[in-house]
Amino acid sequence: MSGNNPYIEAPNAKMPEKKYKITFVNQGKTIEVDPKNIPTSSTGLAGSILDIALASDVDIDHACGGVCACSTCHIIVKEGFETCSESTDDEEDQLERAPGLTPKSRLACQCIPDGTKDIVVEIPNWNRNLARE
Ligand code: FES
Repeated sequence: MSGNNPYIEAPNAKMPEKKYKITFVNQGKTIEVDPKNIPTSSTGLAGSILDIALASDVDIDHACGGVCACSTCHIIVKEGFETCSESTDDEEDQLERAPGLTPKSRLACQCIPDGTKDIVVEIPNWNRNLARE
């Protein structure tokens, strides 16, 4: 499923121009992202943390398929938060429903790092789709 939702505002994202790394702290995995060949799973916005994670065997729940219509892809960007695309009002609306919200919380499907710094991401244990439990 494509990650673009035509009914919501598109984020003002800057795509990376140099290589950077995403470390998933509680998965013990670091992915190097090459701007010439950004990993994609066609889930979430192109270049988003969800899209890159799923293409790199890092599982993040994504009940709506990455179209900013749930909050199951909630992540915490522990380092490099400032290099991520600004969240839209639609993302903020969905995020409000996520348990354990922090000032560095984002929806992985909407969050696009610009690659100017390496980033560190925590996938909360509570980001499961409650409807499935
Ligand atoms: S997967 Fe549903 S909002 Fe990201």
